[in-house]
Amino acid sequence: MIINTELEQKGNLFPSKIINFKKDVDTLYFSTDNDVVLQLTVLRDSVLRFRYSTTGTFGNDFSYAITKYASTGYNHLTIDEDDEFYKITTSKLICHIAKEDLRVSLYDAKDNELINQDEVGFHWEESYEYGGNIVKMSKISNDGESYYGLGDKPNHLNLKGKRYQNWVTDSYAYGKDTDPIYKAIPFYTGLHNKKAYGIFFDNTFRSYFDFSHERRNVTSFWADGGEMNYYFIYGPQMQDVIESYTDLTGKPHQLPPLWALGYHQCKWSYYPESKVKEITSTFRKLKIPCDAIYLDIDYMEGFRCFTWNKEYFPDPKRMVKELADDGFKTVAIIDPGIKIDKEYSVFKEALEKDYFCKRADGPYMKGKVWPGECYFPDFTNPKVRDWWSGLFKELIEDIGIKGVWNDMNEPAVMEVPNKTFPDDVRHNYDGNFCSHRKAHNIYGMQMARATYQGLKKYAYPKRPFVITRSAYSGTQRYTSTWTGDNVATWEHLWIANVQAQRMAMSGFSFAGSDIGGFAEQPQGELFTRWIQLGVFHPFCRVHSSGDHGDQEPWAFDEDVTDIVRKFIELRYQLLPYLYTAFWHHIDQGRPILKSLVLYDQEDVQTHYRTDEFIYGENILVCPIIEQNARGRRMYVPRGNWYNYWTNELIKGGKELWVDANIESMPIFIKEGAIIPKYPIQQYVDELDIDEVTLDVYYKKGKEVSTLYDDANDGYDYTKGRYSLRTFKLKGKENELIIQQHKEGKYTTKYKTFNLKIYGLPFEVKEIQLDNEIIDIKRLILDEYSNIVIDKDFSELHIIGV
Ligand code: NOJ
Repeated sequence: MIINTELEQKGNLFPSKIINFKKDVDTLYFSTDNDVVLQLTVLRDSVLRFRYSTTGTFGNDFSYAITKYASTGYNHLTIDEDDEFYKITTSKLICHIAKEDLRVSLYDAKDNELINQDEVGFHWEESYEYGGNIVKMSKISNDGESYYGLGDKPNHLNLKGKRYQNWVTDSYAYGKDTDPIYKAIPFYTGLHNKKAYGIFFDNTFRSYFDFSHERRNVTSFWADGGEMNYYFIYGPQMQDVIESYTDLTGKPHQLPPLWALGYHQCKWSYYPESKVKEITSTFRKLKIPCDAIYLDIDYMEGFRCFTWNKEYFPDPKRMVKELADDGFKTVAIIDPGIKIDKEYSVFKEALEKDYFCKRADGPYMKGKVWPGECYFPDFTNPKVRDWWSGLFKELIEDIGIKGVWNDMNEPAVMEVPNKTFPDDVRHNYDGNFCSHRKAHNIYGMQMARATYQGLKKYAYPKRPFVITRSAYSGTQRYTSTWTGDNVATWEHLWIANVQAQRMAMSGFSFAGSDIGGFAEQPQGELFTRWIQLGVFHPFCRVHSSGDHGDQEPWAFDEDVTDIVRKFIELRYQLLPYLYTAFWHHIDQGRPILKSLVLYDQEDVQTHYRTDEFIYGENILVCPIIEQNARGRRMYVPRGNWYNYWTNELIKGGKELWVDANIESMPIFIKEGAIIPKYPIQQYVDELDIDEVTLDVYYKKGKEVSTLYDDANDGYDYTKGRYSLRTFKLKGKENELIIQQHKEGKYTTKYKTFNLKIYGLPFEVKEIQLDNEIIDIKRLILDEYSNIVIDKDFSELHIIGV
């Protein structure tokens, strides 16, 4: 083969023919006569794992990404063979393994259509420098095939035509083409012939993905070391692919406390205490809802983690309590670098216990960060994680900090060319001792995990809240994340939109950007447009660096403050909607944001759209990302949609112009949806809410919506004390029926629903509630057929004249 010759000349090696085949329950072993073994595990009907060895044996099977809670167990598996290949069949997939060279082809078991096929397939290059191999995989890429995923790449949503790297990197003021940046999520979804599949390359070394960039008809991925070890996940629906990937790498271990879905205000840095109070009281004075206030590095004594600068914050416990009394949760930053200081207890203890990372020949890994020269705990050591989690006792239990922000955990090192540890640093890697080459991409993840353990313990019975900058696949189990040091430019508003969608497609929904931009200062217009987008991101925080002026909602002119308030209020009204989406996320792994391609992959018009997305299940959002715009063209996906502002019903499946001056942005509600809304609160649980509004959008036809409630914090919901309401809407020419089904043992505090019905095409003659006719005059209050009814109704029947 020509390609092989070319690759051979570059030092690549290839599997030769299969000489042995063995089966062990759900795992098959194919061995070649040059000692290559393919270990193929059928995890589920639609999930196969491909693991290759070039020495005839495998090392310890260990992964930080794969959760022990992943569902495994296949229902049906048969193996056949003919002269050319082995054939493994499950109810969803047919997998061919070529006897000649181990090449893999995957087919849909229902219609036999080819889904994905090795080009050269597995091959490798021996690494003289480090030992082991550079492991490689190449797959055929078809015309019209699209690719999505890979975490935080600040580039077009569709990855086709580009090459990317995974190596988590501190990237101050990154740009549209910067790669890599903070996250390493080696997972992508391919879409071809309307069928979607996923590939998760679980290898923590520096890895690379080439999507038809080097060669138009080839997509390949490779890593500087470790094993060729990837999972093939079949959909054919993209949402199923992402849900399966999330199942494998884990859903968040619990719901966030509801306050964490509120608005957060941050700055590098708010200090001293009087400044913090000035900020929080201005929120209350101006009636701009806010739930969390952040303390960046200056709260510490000389940037020593777990200490307080007593000049700025003489009595942190009192301050945190006073803030809490005003509805603010205080979130504090904690970095990995521990100042070398013999008088500093955290340093002393870690040194005594031998918990710091060391270089290959024994010296400590010394590097400069904010505090000056530091050593760094080896978070890949389970004992270190336990110790680290214990350090949070005082901060959380005694002082009352409600959330912890892990930053610089790539780990970032200053004044060195590679911005991080050298390759030779040693790590425990949970007993699988290795160099930084292998541990780099998961260092931040393990730090966030240790922090999470601490918060989980000391915040109990409340839920933990952690935010991390660096992440590898699976980090979503422990923490939320933000997209790092962006810039106050219009281009970065576009980037923030893509990144949040891409993170959601990469199994990590709880993400957001530094609203307004971290570096440089936005104009009021940019800040306003960014807030409009940011309130629709699962994590919603304004953050900026200290030296670029103020970035609070009132730092611009009054009009900006008013518009920003209106949109933050909208976020608070939609909290029950977002919380329900979050529940779907932790329960089913469903992404909270859905790019249009994820929403409707059959419509090829969606494959290259980046700006529009679906927030939760039923709200279509399209941010305005250009200066001076008074509206924009956008693609409205197929189906009928109500303009949120005008209630006008629009037929989708086409591009159209939508007016949106600075006070507005394009928002549409799917026809048939029922959207729950809270009254505006200044912070979560400020009010005892006794009524929830249900915005009902009439549809001729059927639609199902859900509403999840629980105590907004704590773990009772895991014992069945939650409330899940399913609303079935059925609209006919002259009738609208809403049926409610209720599940769970939680009694919501609210007693009534206030139904606002939009788009009813008939005049109401009669309303029946649970089969009884009710007095319409008493109920219909305004033009939107405002109906207040008991929250536990079973059926509402509206009949036209
Ligand atoms: C870098 C982080 O990305 C940023 O958010 C933070 O404010 C600074 N470090 C200072 O802690």
